[in-house]
Amino acid sequence: MDDLATLRWLVEIGADEAILDTPLDRFSAPPPPAPAARPAAKPVAVPSVPVAAAPAVMAAPQPAAQAVVSAREAAAAARTLDELKAALAAFDGCALKATATNLVFCDGNPAAKVMLVGEAPGADEDRQGKPFVGVSGQLLDRMLAAIGLDRTSVYITNVIPWRPPANRTPSAAELAACLPFVQRHIALANPQILVLVGGISAKALLDTSEGIMRLRGKWRTYRTPDMPAEIPVLPTYHPAYLLRQPAQKRDSWRDLLSIKQKIRDNINN
Ligand code: URA
Repeated sequence: MDDLATLRWLVEIGADEAILDTPLDRFSAPPPPAPAARPAAKPVAVPSVPVAAAPAVMAAPQPAAQAVVSAREAAAAARTLDELKAALAAFDGCALKATATNLVFCDGNPAAKVMLVGEAPGADEDRQGKPFVGVSGQLLDRMLAAIGLDRTSVYITNVIPWRPPANRTPSAAELAACLPFVQRHIALANPQILVLVGGISAKALLDTSEGIMRLRGKWRTYRTPDMPAEIPVLPTYHPAYLLRQPAQKRDSWRDLLSIKQKIRDNINN
């Protein structure tokens, strides 16, 4: 592997930060000697280390609980999807905003009867400002096409609208700060069927600790107080997981057929 290929591989697996200049083998290093009792040393002046200033444009990060309160207020005040997008763009309660290139708000048809909610943008989505435009988005498009859907007949968003660095899993605090926005997003889009794509989205929106293996394929109902009625919701596997575990596509296909049937039952009559 040449240096560039190695670097690419490291970035892909998320190792994009240098911690030390030289490698340290923590397994072979001898245990540090126990400190010997010594007379108290003279105090040594510690040079002050300059602390990098936060970028002038970013507000100081809000404490987690305050961020959730601000998110709820801002989301509830939005009367339209455009207002919700503007409220998210102005929201400083989620630190992911500082490292992302773009806000990723939605794609597809806001008037569609079927709404999909994924996890968080990846590198391609961050660059283009649209959800599911990378490799897993391409698989998602093929899955939708298999049941006669495309981006004119579905509406798509994510529970997290900014890319987590190196595509790491969003933290509980980040999910909590963004949840009021995605809940309001669903209420304003007012779909007739909701599909939760992947475990992160399913757990956050169904407020459960159950894993996607147990959740997938089972219809439930979803409703927040600002929605006119409850709607059917189906958790299903994330296409990124299917790319790693193609054998699970069989279950995914069952979910897709179940969505197709639900559309027939709920929408086309
Ligand atoms: N994965 C997601 O969950 N959402 C995206 O937008 C892209 C990849």
